Amino acid sequence: MSKARLGVLLSGRGSNFLAIHRAIEAGELPAEIAVVLSDQPDAPGLARAEELGLRAYPVPVEGLGGQQEAAVLGYFHHTDVEWVCLAGYMRILSAELVGRYPRRIVNIHPSLLPAFPGLHAQRQALEYGVRVAGCTVHLVDEGVDTGPIVMQRTVPVKPGDTESSLAARILEQEHQVYPEALRRLLQEPWRMVGRRLVFEARTAHPSP
Ligand code: GRF
Repeated sequence: MSKARLGVLLSGRGSNFLAIHRAIEAGELPAEIAVVLSDQPDAPGLARAEELGLRAYPVPVEGLGGQQEAAVLGYFHHTDVEWVCLAGYMRILSAELVGRYPRRIVNIHPSLLPAFPGLHAQRQALEYGVRVAGCTVHLVDEGVDTGPIVMQRTVPVKPGDTESSLAARILEQEHQVYPEALRRLLQEPWRMVGRRLVFEARTAHPSP
């Protein structure tokens, strides 16, 4: 099977990017990382990508200004990116960029969407008092954390949880579900029914 070429956008630590990279190296995900870009030049995730020998470039807003997304698209174009993975990327994509990769931009968010979109999702969940939290892999549309849901994982909220203990519990699940959701998107037939993303079970063809 041919390998999908992924463009990764990140802004920080990059642990989800590394989970995707590990899954590829383990042969669990039929993909290759074409390029890693970060709007934060000193992001640890960008440094790790370089250490791993991947193409990795900073795309800071300062300096590039209104051309920041044009720079992102330029790198994607030159490295033949087919799918875009947001991995802790702290910028909202323009409708134009989203339109360049229709249903081919994937994000992970640390809440059970549609609850708690936006920043500090784990803090929002704790403050709300939910008993179950989790994470969501979704396709990206023009909204903030509003696109079609691909997969979700839940975790319990425990008595005495802090924002960081809950975030750590959710992160463990993120590292499993993001590569798994990408694998399914790449390998399984799926279609949209309204705003629902439906994976279609492969039907065995009866022999003639
Ligand atoms: C994760 O919690 C992810 O869900 C959110 O940003 C965080 C990024 O973490 N979108 P990392 O940079 O992948 O470690």
